[in-house]
Amino acid sequence: MKLVKVSPSILAADFANLEHEIRKVEKCADYIHLDVMDGHFVPNLSFGYPVVEAIKRISKIPLDVHLMVENPPQYVEGFSEYHPEILTIHYEVCNNLYRTLQRIKELGSKAFVAINPHTPVIILDDILDYLDGVLIMSVNPGFSGQEFIGRSIRRIRVLSEMRKARDLTFKIMVDGGVSPSNASELVEAGADILVMGSAVFRSDDPESVCTAVKESWRIP
Ligand code: DX5
Ligand code: ZN
Repeated sequence: MKLVKVSPSILAADFANLEHEIRKVEKCADYIHLDVMDGHFVPNLSFGYPVVEAIKRISKIPLDVHLMVENPPQYVEGFSEYHPEILTIHYEVCNNLYRTLQRIKELGSKAFVAINPHTPVIILDDILDYLDGVLIMSVNPGFSGQEFIGRSIRRIRVLSEMRKARDLTFKIMVDGGVSPSNASELVEAGADILVMGSAVFRSDDPESVCTAVKESWRIP
């Protein structure tokens, strides 16, 4: 029996009160999702090392760092200093994927690869054995509060079938437009970790949103 895990994304939180915002999810969050953006890979800027360092200092929630940056190998060592449980890099901007994944693992994090909505799932076929997880983007990366792209459900299902067929154990994470209203379909399709930004931090009761999603899903 396992529970689905939730990773609230602080991109939708009040940055003027970040510590207070994180306390709201401390009891129910399995990870805290940190969206690092460079204004090149995605058309937005967010935050970098100082914010990750500050969150590491004030909370024990395991960190889940999502690098939406060009040339991710350049930043792997830097973010590893904060011992993220999960470090995710994008397939689309990493020419040395295998080597970078190995380095992430050597430095002590779980190595995840993210793919954008236009990147075919099958493209990961030759690298799946070396991954700790795959992040399926269910919006175009860059902003919180966007509409979920429905086709993502099918992509998760295909990936889940590939995992089963090869008897692999990597995790499937989904990010973008996730909320209690589509969580059930995502988990049924094969998702293990749900990233939620606006659904959690724009709610009046972030903890109950996380808890509701988690408790409704007990998968044998
Ligand atoms: C989008 C980010 C997401 C974002 C999700 O580029 O990677 O993590 O914060 O926000 P919601 O859940 O509001 O779509
Ligand atoms: Zn993200």
